[in-house]
Amino acid sequence: MPGNNQRRFLMKDLKKSVLGAAAATFMFAAAPAVADDTVKVGLILPMTGASASTGRQIEAAARLYIAEHGSKVAGKTIELIIKDDAGVADQSKRLAQELVVNDKVSVLAGFGLTPLALAVGPIATQAKVPAIIMAAGTAMIVDTSPWFVRTSFTLPQNTIPMAEWAAKNGIKKVVTLVSDYGPGLDAEKWFKTKFEASGGQIIDQLRSPLANPDFAAFLQKAKDDKPDALFLFVPSGQGAVLMKQVVERGLVADGIKIIGTGDVTDDDLINGMGDAVVGMITSHNYSADHNSPENKAFVANFLKANGNARPNFMAVGGYDGMALVYKALEKTGGDATGAKLLDAMKGLSWVSPRGPISVDPETRDIVQNVYIRKVEKKDGALWNVEFDTLANVKDPSHTPK
Ligand code: PHB
Repeated sequence: MPGNNQRRFLMKDLKKSVLGAAAATFMFAAAPAVADDTVKVGLILPMTGASASTGRQIEAAARLYIAEHGSKVAGKTIELIIKDDAGVADQSKRLAQELVVNDKVSVLAGFGLTPLALAVGPIATQAKVPAIIMAAGTAMIVDTSPWFVRTSFTLPQNTIPMAEWAAKNGIKKVVTLVSDYGPGLDAEKWFKTKFEASGGQIIDQLRSPLANPDFAAFLQKAKDDKPDALFLFVPSGQGAVLMKQVVERGLVADGIKIIGTGDVTDDDLINGMGDAVVGMITSHNYSADHNSPENKAFVANFLKANGNARPNFMAVGGYDGMALVYKALEKTGGDATGAKLLDAMKGLSWVSPRGPISVDPETRDIVQNVYIRKVEKKDGALWNVEFDTLANVKDPSHTPK
């Protein structure tokens, strides 16, 4: 149970921003009621602002899942409620409160960036509502509320295979350049840890601000450092600007290999990056080029429903987040009480468009394959072509170090 101070604090917030005091007190007195045959899923997404592509991808994928599987599961009708937080954490928090208090959602989901997920954690905890992280990737988010479950990825999970591949493939000296916030710092830390443990050397660690990205000064410094390779992480949406500046600065022409997590060669943007990215190696949990029947169906249906827009790794996080809701409801026989639904989510496993995945019952984090990929041109379009697989990778930071 939350302490009195914590409760008073939350109540004050609620009174200010949502309903009257009476409604707020009533709402937290009990878990959200399963009032009727509708199960509401509140999706909080950046539909506007710098991360709007994440919001668009996840909304489209969640709607696709419902279109493919029907809106009824275990006798309940699924209702999606989409709210735009514009990538602002205060908004995510306010919207989560509204969704819980006014709409009585059974599940909160979405969260396009780490700070947005972190802002919602306390609301999920207080309201005892499962919160599915469909996008954000900082490892520690799931540790901040026992109600978080993740269907996206973590940066340590996606980064470690890249560090190991680099060390095995003749790269000895690396400069890292990451966005200066949670997921970037995770990527920086785990790349260094694994690369050095495999005999490599990190000669510089550069961090660029998340807002208003201009990478020129950092790229010049990286160039002057003369590494064998430059390792990159930026969040979905910034890869095209970064890669344009990498090419303009002449790092590739200097023979510096460009490597990174797949956030950089995002399927959403890759075709705007030009042929300079052909040959770039990245590691990631999803490529639209993944060769499986599940993915071929997913990509074909997504393209058809979205005017030929290609799904990216955010879309697959949203699609699997809906799969998690459906599968958990099947397990509880339609009971959407928070604790029962959360319990049912733990340990679930299935074959996603990205390959086999499961929810670790201990940590509530996703376990999935991570693929090493190379950018290739096929039929005039650029794709991240997978050529190596690390199976069932767990996030390393939740286990004793
Ligand atoms: C995050 O903020 O956690 C995040 C966002 C986009 C990414 C990766 C991580 O591509």
